[in-house]
Amino acid sequence: MQRLNIALPKGRLGEKVYALLENLGYGCPGMTDGTRKLIFEDEGGVVRYFWVKPSDVDIYVERGAADIGIVGRDILLEHNPDVYELVDLGFGKCRMCVAGVVGETPNPNRALRVATKFAGIAKEHYAAKSREIDIIKLSGSIELAPILGMSDVIVDIVETGSTLKENNLEVKETICDISARLIANKAAYRFKNEEVAALAEKIRKAVAENK
Ligand code: PRP
Repeated sequence: MQRLNIALPKGRLGEKVYALLENLGYGCPGMTDGTRKLIFEDEGGVVRYFWVKPSDVDIYVERGAADIGIVGRDILLEHNPDVYELVDLGFGKCRMCVAGVVGETPNPNRALRVATKFAGIAKEHYAAKSREIDIIKLSGSIELAPILGMSDVIVDIVETGSTLKENNLEVKETICDISARLIANKAAYRFKNEEVAALAEKIRKAVAENK
């Protein structure tokens, strides 16, 4: 048996996924102790976990530092990594949306100013509509941009909708649904196929049972 290297997204989603993996027999001591440690391995040689920044998970997997990982579909759409997508976990459900100030309609005769963390997704969305845009790339608190008049709209994740509501913004369009995905490195999928396939199958079953 070969040890599986697994990249987990730091934060709530990762903790939820780890709880599922622990239940499925992939537990590892110390993982939930709240220390600053980033790598954990079990004594039995089954798994090695890394806690990584959620938007970096696909990079570790694509480059083979991790054999598999759990990542939001938003990151996959934005980065387009060369990995296999194995399972939709159905966790971390949210939507990628265009949002703007309540009641406001942007001027259709000039380039639409779009503030976002997801420049790739925004460009693709508006290219499909042949709409000219001016991307304003931000790293967080995207909602501020239209409030301050810096952008006409934002392209961002909406989960409960409360951030929009509390800032007098509304969804103008839904681009796509997002949820967490299990991804695999292409070489690991071949050379550790037994281990990867077994874990993917267990997750698939658990997800189906929870539906
Ligand atoms: C995300 C997203 C929205 C918010 C949506 O931000 O960018 O701001 O969550 O959630 P809601 O619909 O439940 O209110 P995040 O918390 O990741 O912080 P950020 O501002 O750094 O992007």
